[in-house]
Amino acid sequence: MAEIRVNLKKTEDKSYNIIIEEGVLKKIPEKLKEAGLGHKFAIITDSTVKTLYAEDLSEAITKTDIDNKIISFPAGEENKSREVKAWIEDQMLEDKFGRDSAVIALGGGVVGDIAGYVAASYTRGLPYVQIPTTLVACVDSSIGGKTAVDTPHGKNLIGAFYQPWAVFIDVNTLLTLNKKEIQEGLAEVIKYGVIKDAELFSFLEEKMDLVFSYDKAALTYIIKTGCEIKGHVVENDERESNLRKILNFGHTVGHAVENLSNYKISHGQAISIGMVAEGKLAVEMGIWNETELIQMTKLIEKAGLPTDIPDYMKVDQIIDAMVLDKKSRGGHIEMVLPNRIGDMATIDRGYGIKIEEAVIKKVI
Ligand SMILES: NC(=O)c1ccc[n+]([C@@H]2O[C@H](COP(=O)([O-])OP(=O)(O)OC[C@H]3O[C@@H](n4cnc5c(N)ncnc54)[C@H](O)[C@@H]3O)[C@@H](O)[C@H]2O)c1
Ligand SMILES: [Zn+2]
Repeated sequence: MAEIRVNLKKTEDKSYNIIIEEGVLKKIPEKLKEAGLGHKFAIITDSTVKTLYAEDLSEAITKTDIDNKIISFPAGEENKSREVKAWIEDQMLEDKFGRDSAVIALGGGVVGDIAGYVAASYTRGLPYVQIPTTLVACVDSSIGGKTAVDTPHGKNLIGAFYQPWAVFIDVNTLLTLNKKEIQEGLAEVIKYGVIKDAELFSFLEEKMDLVFSYDKAALTYIIKTGCEIKGHVVENDERESNLRKILNFGHTVGHAVENLSNYKISHGQAISIGMVAEGKLAVEMGIWNETELIQMTKLIEKAGLPTDIPDYMKVDQIIDAMVLDKKSRGGHIEMVLPNRIGDMATIDRGYGIKIEEAVIKKVI
């Protein structure tokens, strides 16, 4: 008998910088050249962002004498699929992208998730940079290293944890977003205020109009603060476990609502409804106070986001959907709940709080 141990215990530094700078898009080609990240770049993007920003970026990279190619797929969540991922990889294979190449993910969360996953698996891993161009992507999807595609069995089921080399955020790219996309991002930003930052919450209460008028300073402030919060949470907890759970505020009920609506209700709308429902549970359980719940509900309304579960959804359906969701442990429904604005409640030093079905039935 022989037993051979393959020692793979190693600590790897996967740290990276998030650069938030107005106009940085124009400086990226030089920065990438200096860094020697790759000899050839695949600029992965969608059909909308291609004409808005990718063509200029490609031209600018060509001027630094680095070979590159835009690979763009039709915009939309339905294209965050295994089929589109395979199509992107085939484009890269046909174009002879090798191990010395790199990936640029230029676009919203859909592009970031699929391009990140391509980077994670193409020749077993290529370096990649994220250039998020939606508010959701800036404050959420581009940070944390989660990459994935959807399947008919559910969203984000196939993917990998894979960290970018850097994230570049240029507020100028957000100026072409429509109001709906700003609202989608704001839902997550309101969540950050509730879970971790009372100052951010007050800023939104006072200055939300500035965000909707695409004021660059206001957008930069919420992006910077959002990145700090998400960055801090994921650096303490790279894989889904304790601290990272606080990011799920509003998402337990939210995912159920999103699913039951057959995705007619968007993610941002669903988690807005979810935050209010989960907030009500926190108040019912004596964890949170009603005054702050009303304050949060008003802020969500101010953002033009919904706060009520649609009448056609029954509480039993919502409970069933939550039990099926990965956030329920051993059949128990678990949530993270606020203690006060800017701070989440803990029980035995953990953030997950078990909720009795009877309480859910009473409250929602
Ligand atoms: N990996 C993570 O941790 C994580 C976190 C949150 C969300 N996500 C994923 O992110 C996706 C949602 O991201 P999203 O909301 O950015 O959606 P999206 O990528 O579909 O972008 C929304 C729309 O905006 C367009 N667009 C992008 N940038 C634009 C710009 N600057 N100007 C005008 N139009 C622009 C896109 O073409 C698209 O039509 C979902 O698939 C979700 O699962 C992932
Ligand atoms: Zn979310």
